[in-house]
Amino acid sequence: MRRYAKRDFPTNKTRRHLEPGPIVLISSAWKGETNIMTLGWHMMLGFTPALVATYIWDANHSYQMVRRSKECVINVPEAHLLDTAIRIGNCTGGEIDKFAEFGLTADPAEKVAAPLIRECYANFECRLHDARLIRGHGIFVWEVVKAHVAASPKNPRTCHYRGDGEFMLGGDAVKRRRLFTPGMLAD
Ligand SMILES: Cc1cc2nc3c(=O)[nH]c(=O)nc-3n(C[C@H](O)[C@H](O)[C@H](O)COP(=O)(O)O)c2cc1C
Repeated sequence: MRRYAKRDFPTNKTRRHLEPGPIVLISSAWKGETNIMTLGWHMMLGFTPALVATYIWDANHSYQMVRRSKECVINVPEAHLLDTAIRIGNCTGGEIDKFAEFGLTADPAEKVAAPLIRECYANFECRLHDARLIRGHGIFVWEVVKAHVAASPKNPRTCHYRGDGEFMLGGDAVKRRRLFTPGMLAD
């Protein structure tokens, strides 16, 4: 399996990897247990601090783990992990150890207890920033407090869920700077 050499990445540029809506793997830790869930519903909410909102269904085992620990890591997989990501999203950590079951490596994070998934090309360590929408909507607003992103590939082949078991794969990059007003290119 591919090993990434990752380097520190500015947290206020988190959106460069999350805004296009790739599916992500949310890793968590609580009372000596770790877990992973697959998640497609997320959005950026701010540059500085870098805020990301995720929708997490309250029936998921991860829901209780992140609600109690108030931390998680948002890990971004590439296409070679697509089948694994789907399987992770079709079973529950209440019954199995997903790191062991799916052969993934839990690396220690720097600022949170939740582990980084080594096999993902990017890892965003998050602390809960706003809990107000959890109860009514299952929306956790996170602050990215540390980011690790692989230096290569430059255009990662991310997986984008279209529903009904169908995915789009990213990779091609196109430049359209000339169509932007300068203020819209701030970051
Ligand atoms: C492609 C894909 C996208 C998913 N997106 C979400 C999501 O945005 N929010 C959510 O709560 N569950 C989502 N799920 C479902 C969870 O990953 C699934 O319920 C998982 O089994 C939860 O694991 P856990 O019980 O160990 O927390 C998705 C699953 C897949 C396969």
